[in-house]
Amino acid sequence: MRYNNNIAILALLMILPAFSQAESPSGQALAFTCAGCHGTDGSSVGPSSPSIAGMDPDVFVDVMKGYREDRRNSTIMNRIAKAYTDEQLRGMAWFFAKQKLQVSSQKYDPQLAVVGEKLHNKYCNKCHEKGGAAGDSGTLAGQWMPYLRYSMADYIDGRRPYPRKMKRKVDAVIEAEGTDAVPALIHYYGSQQ
Ligand code: HEC
Ligand code: HEC
Repeated sequence: MRYNNNIAILALLMILPAFSQAESPSGQALAFTCAGCHGTDGSSVGPSSPSIAGMDPDVFVDVMKGYREDRRNSTIMNRIAKAYTDEQLRGMAWFFAKQKLQVSSQKYDPQLAVVGEKLHNKYCNKCHEKGGAAGDSGTLAGQWMPYLRYSMADYIDGRRPYPRKMKRKVDAVIEAEGTDAVPALIHYYGSQQ
């Protein structure tokens, strides 16, 4: 009898973690609709859709709300984001946060990438740590370069509000290094494969 009780408790302990993460299955189910553009596990295979695997869950929710409320410029995500409640966004956020980013290979200019690395370390690494790896300031390392080009142009041309204190650094790097600064940074991020 005692033996059976122990087994029952053991079984319960094994099931409990699954219940306490009850959000994830629905997050995963919802994430299927994103696969066509962002890849099955959030690692996109097309250059104009960003990879979202390994994205910090808080950033994910912020970004999606930005799209939903038309605060962030987009070609398609504004319409898509409007279909989801806060709770659904959180469920998907956890699903994508747990996926490992699979980086695709893309062409980059090695000389520009070397310049970009130096600029990154001086101007950007404070917030985009580890060379811009997926973290709480989004994903730059290994991200698709065409997507990064749109993102930077959106900030610079005022279509997307800058995160706090980022504008100062972007202005500074362009002032110091000229028009090659942003392309160099993008080639550096693209070179991380
Ligand atoms: C038809 C293609 C398409 C589908 C489907 C799609 N996306 Fe997107 N997504 C994009 C594109 C393109 C962008 C870049 C912004 C834009 O132009 O809309 C983007 C941007 C994003 C970003 C911003 C990433 C970053 O680094 O800031 C997130 C997060 C995102 N999508 C999540 C989702 C989720 C979650 C779903 C499913 C519910 C989804 N997307 C479905 C094409 C798509
Ligand atoms: C003070 C902190 C800070 C600094 C410095 C900073 N950033 Fe950012 N950056 C952020 C945060 C936070 C986000 C994500 C929030 C968002 O999407 O609005 C972000 C987002 C981005 C994105 C958009 C990613 C996407 O998925 O669309 C790009 C590109 C970017 N930063 C490039 C740079 C570059 C290049 C530099 C250096 C010249 C830089 N940042 C310096 C905080 C910073």
